[in-house]
Amino acid sequence: MKLTIHDDVKKIPYYPKAMMYGFDEGWVRLSSNENPFPPSPKVFSSILDALFYTNRYPGGELELKTAIAKKLGTKPEQVLIGNGSNELIEMTFKAMKHGKRNKVIISDPSFAFYSIAAQVYGYEVSKVPLVDMHVDLSLIGKEIDNTTRVIFLNNPLNPTGTIFRQEQFEGFLKTVPSEVLVVVDEAYAEFAESAKFPRTIEYIAGHPVLMLRTFSKAYGLAGLRIGYGIGEGSLIAFLERTKQPFSVNMMALIAAQAALSDSAYLKKVLRNNKNGKAYFNKALKELSVEFVPSEANFLLVRLGREAEGITKKLFEEKVLVRWMGAYGLPDFIRVSVGTVDENRRFIEALRRII
Ligand SMILES: Cc1ncc(COP(=O)(O)O)c(C=O)c1O
Repeated sequence: MKLTIHDDVKKIPYYPKAMMYGFDEGWVRLSSNENPFPPSPKVFSSILDALFYTNRYPGGELELKTAIAKKLGTKPEQVLIGNGSNELIEMTFKAMKHGKRNKVIISDPSFAFYSIAAQVYGYEVSKVPLVDMHVDLSLIGKEIDNTTRVIFLNNPLNPTGTIFRQEQFEGFLKTVPSEVLVVVDEAYAEFAESAKFPRTIEYIAGHPVLMLRTFSKAYGLAGLRIGYGIGEGSLIAFLERTKQPFSVNMMALIAAQAALSDSAYLKKVLRNNKNGKAYFNKALKELSVEFVPSEANFLLVRLGREAEGITKKLFEEKVLVRWMGAYGLPDFIRVSVGTVDENRRFIEALRRII
């Protein structure tokens, strides 16, 4: 049975119950690097279709692997699907936990879940400071010893939005022993505009490299929880052994395929992000507020000692941003790019407050 959103959605007594889901419409949510747009219309109709089969365990994983492989020029057996990339991060730690090697290397700061998940699985976590807000791969390399099991990189980096470049990554890989898995979490890769952003997929054959991507950001499916990993076939098969059967629900599997097929939606999202960052750059310069140039869908903004207080005042104006105290950057906030109106609300509120 094929349903189309236009005819059939109207028969369902549907309206977004914003309050019920914790989204009061008056709020501007720029705190979690989400996509500000509802997902592609193709996602809506695919989910309606999938609803009819929710009495069954989820199918569609091989079809999604095949669609991703086709898009990225790789093979379906080199693709791993997870309940958000968070599940893939956790699966990696679970699967790699054997033998004498017990050390995980991450940058400091980096996405908070790496350190949490590594500690849950009993690893020793070694944190390498940034240099000028960038990951310095040579410093990461210096931390490798014969106890190192996994290096977790994130490019573009959450929370700075900065990147390491293709030639830096290539040089770095030559220094990493083959017993060490290099994970590159590219949750924000679609937003990166630099021609020097690494083509990580070119390196999965020569070394244990796992590239992680997600449908949560550029594809607008954060609420459905689906992400994927790309690596050499034997690595993927090894990691897959630790995956719970049916951890990814059917709606997410089918919606991800639909999202992947809608290049017009992706184009709209990326255009909005580019324009939003240009607007932020100009407006923040006018306010004499420093920020880190970003290749992602968020900006790290320096507000000095008042950063936490300003975050609270923005909250009182119903504008949510993230104070970066928990990331060891108490002088900063991180603000996601929203819609044109949301971006303006943030800048106007900030102007009033400072
Ligand atoms: C760097 C990074 N990796 C992974 C994730 C989690 O993504 P997912 O929604 O796919 O679990 C996030 C979420 O903000 C992130 O910033």
